[in-house]
Amino acid sequence: MGGFLGFVYRQWTIKPKPLPSALSLSGKTALITGANSGLGFEAARELMSRKISRLIIAVRDVSKGEAAKKELSSSQGGDTCEIEVWPLDHESYQSIAELGKRTAKLDRLDYALLNAGVKMMSYKKSALGHETNVQINHIGTSAVSLAILPALKHTAQRYNTPSRLIIVSSEGHFWIPFKERSAGKILAKMDEEETFGTQQQRYYTSKLLNVLWTRELASKVDKEEVVVNTVNPGFCYSGLHRHSASVINVFLWLFAWTPEQGGRCLTDALVKHEDSHGQYLSDQRQTPPSSFVLSSDGEKAQKKIWDETIALLKDEAIGLDTSVVT
Ligand SMILES: NC(=O)c1ccc[n+]([C@@H]2O[C@H](COP(=O)([O-])OP(=O)(O)OC[C@H]3O[C@@H](n4cnc5c(N)ncnc54)[C@H](OP(=O)(O)O)[C@@H]3O)[C@@H](O)[C@H]2O)c1
Repeated sequence: MGGFLGFVYRQWTIKPKPLPSALSLSGKTALITGANSGLGFEAARELMSRKISRLIIAVRDVSKGEAAKKELSSSQGGDTCEIEVWPLDHESYQSIAELGKRTAKLDRLDYALLNAGVKMMSYKKSALGHETNVQINHIGTSAVSLAILPALKHTAQRYNTPSRLIIVSSEGHFWIPFKERSAGKILAKMDEEETFGTQQQRYYTSKLLNVLWTRELASKVDKEEVVVNTVNPGFCYSGLHRHSASVINVFLWLFAWTPEQGGRCLTDALVKHEDSHGQYLSDQRQTPPSSFVLSSDGEKAQKKIWDETIALLKDEAIGLDTSVVT
């Protein structure tokens, strides 16, 4: 149910559950992007409470990452989990490529939660020249997914069990017209200020791109090696809403889950649902994405976005190997 009433009903009635208390992630390694705050931080905390052995928090601002590490270290599991803070900026392809190289040196990478994101309410170009929501939420996240894929595959082959790659999207992907899809070049069109739309439209479109990218990536990756899915964490209190008009506070007060509850949706998608390859999860279950995504137009847009993103990364992201999927 993607409409507003469905949203209200679910935010009011569903209370996301934590991972089973008996679950042990001992021996496993997870990487979470944007884990210094909000839902990523809470997801990190929950994995630690389930005894994960190594946690990499990949953050734009290392000092914020170190502060998060300090707080996590004093949480449940802090005595047994090795926490590392790695730099990652979605506005730097060099940083993304470096992250990929570092993951390739790990002895294992079992779980990757691509959670970093922004919600910019007005048009702003990123440091790399693209509209910022699209840069950080779609282009950056997609580039990271390619950069870390070899490490995830390698782990699966070595330990004979699929690794997991989760991209955080949003229910908001149901709520936008995605007019830009009819442009000859969709991503280039979205760089034009006139196409930005109003309020949260561009943010929602970037989250639709997350869903489309996940589905196409999943179609190119063997589910026996890496299970790829996308998750809506629900509407939650977090710093994400800091650029929104103050009316958002009313919506938050009325409907929002806590960051801990949102984080539970992320860990649920990351650790459970082994059969969710290519799927969209919401409210801790597999559920259809928007009817546009499932339509033939959606399928065309999915392939176009994939081709355009790969071409853009080949052109701009020196040092990033885009041939890890063909
Ligand atoms: N909260 C919600 O209601 C909601 C609903 C649906 C989906 N989501 C999704 O959930 C994810 C987490 O958001 P949140 O609510 O936890 O918000 P948040 O607290 O603002 O966390 C976002 C994280 O992304 C990081 N980030 C931003 N720009 C980055 C960049 N250029 N490179 C690397 N990292 C960057 C932030 O780092 P800094 O601290 O340095 O800025 C922060 O760690 C996002 O993908 C968001 O779209 C959230």
